[in-house]
Amino acid sequence: MNSELTNQTTDQEQNFGILLVDDEPHILTALVRSLRRYKWRLFSAPSGEEGLEILEREQIHVVISDYRMDGMDGVTFLRLVKEKWPDIQRVMLTGQASFEAVEKAINESEVHRFLNKPWLDAQLAATVNECLDHIELIVSNRLFETELAKRNQELSAMNLELEKKVEERTQALIQAEKMVALGRMAGGVAHEINNPLGGILAFVQVLLRESRHHEDEPTKEALETIQSCALRCKDIVENLLSFSRKSSGEAHTEVDLNNVARNSLAIAQLDPRANDVSVRLELGLDVPLVLGRSGLLEQVVINLLQNAFYASASGSKVVLRTEGRGNQAVLVVQDEGTGIAAQVLAHIFEPFFTTKETGEGTGLGLSICYGIAQEHGGSLIVESKESEGSKFELRLPAADCLSDKELRE
Ligand SMILES: Nc1ncnc2c1ncn2[C@@H]1O[C@H](COP(=O)(O)OP(=O)(O)OP(=O)(O)O)[C@@H](O)[C@H]1O
Ligand SMILES: [Mg+2]
Repeated sequence: MNSELTNQTTDQEQNFGILLVDDEPHILTALVRSLRRYKWRLFSAPSGEEGLEILEREQIHVVISDYRMDGMDGVTFLRLVKEKWPDIQRVMLTGQASFEAVEKAINESEVHRFLNKPWLDAQLAATVNECLDHIELIVSNRLFETELAKRNQELSAMNLELEKKVEERTQALIQAEKMVALGRMAGGVAHEINNPLGGILAFVQVLLRESRHHEDEPTKEALETIQSCALRCKDIVENLLSFSRKSSGEAHTEVDLNNVARNSLAIAQLDPRANDVSVRLELGLDVPLVLGRSGLLEQVVINLLQNAFYASASGSKVVLRTEGRGNQAVLVVQDEGTGIAAQVLAHIFEPFFTTKETGEGTGLGLSICYGIAQEHGGSLIVESKESEGSKFELRLPAADCLSDKELRE
């Protein structure tokens, strides 16, 4: 607001309320007359007590009060004003420039503006304008502070979000590096074991064939046990090789995830555990084709479904869903089973990690799924809450935004 004296009246000026308090009626009249041309809302009271009543009713911005009054004196009145309405600007009108009056007013009522009687009209108006400027400053400061607090809050929220993202990325990177290292190791070990294993199987078969000519049953049984153990080892080695992405030479072709979902469900439902669980198949209409090996992708879905069945209580539901999401085709397997504890969750993609009883599972299922997702340029994401269930998402890039070259070999 302009503090220069002016005759112009603005809407804002009319909103400002000025209260004048003096026990001498002619002084009150003179004060009103001095300020009338500014079109502020003027109120006058012949005593501090009546002044307080007006303050209760009206919105007042500036109070000008005489110092010496019958009844409540000016210092007490202005102190009460300060206590109840601290934003209201207070001006003390003093008769003779009494040093004692000024000192009391400053100390007790925090009054910092004084006018001497008799006053000059221009001086009075300038003082009121100064007070109003001060109020505007207080208001805009407060707005600024509120805005600042709001911004600060937004900033902290953004910071938290950022920290969370960095943490997620870091975890994903650590996980990816761990899996690459494990993949390399698993691949190396599997490769080394593959050749002697081939030898064992070949020789067992030779011996088995020869044992047909003898009637040595115990030897034959022992050889058959060796053969079945060696075949089981071969399975594991093949799984390890597929985790380390060195096995298949099959070319990538366009694959419809809805077909993958249907075929996998048909196979997974052969698992006796599937009988106790109801599966809801929700196939999306907008799922883009992906480039891949349908056999491997089915292996992922079968693994995920088997895990879901294993974790589900009898009578619960498993959802198998496909959907298009931006440039991705997504397949979701969601169960309402046991869920996965946080300390377990960090390890589930590691080869040989299992919570199943010894002999019940190899712990290779998810590590193979992870490797296959990577091989297809995609990812396998898990969300799980203990005793609420788990959700696994296989996300694959749509065929039309990925060239075969981009796929990892
Ligand atoms: N849907 C699920 N609900 C709860 N836990 C799960 C789920 N899927 C996987 N897990 C946990 O992750 C572990 C590793 O799973 P993964 O499929 O790799 O091996 P596995 O199922 O234990 O053994 P295998 O797959 O050889 O039978 C499981 O032992 C289990 O603790
Ligand atoms: Mg499994």
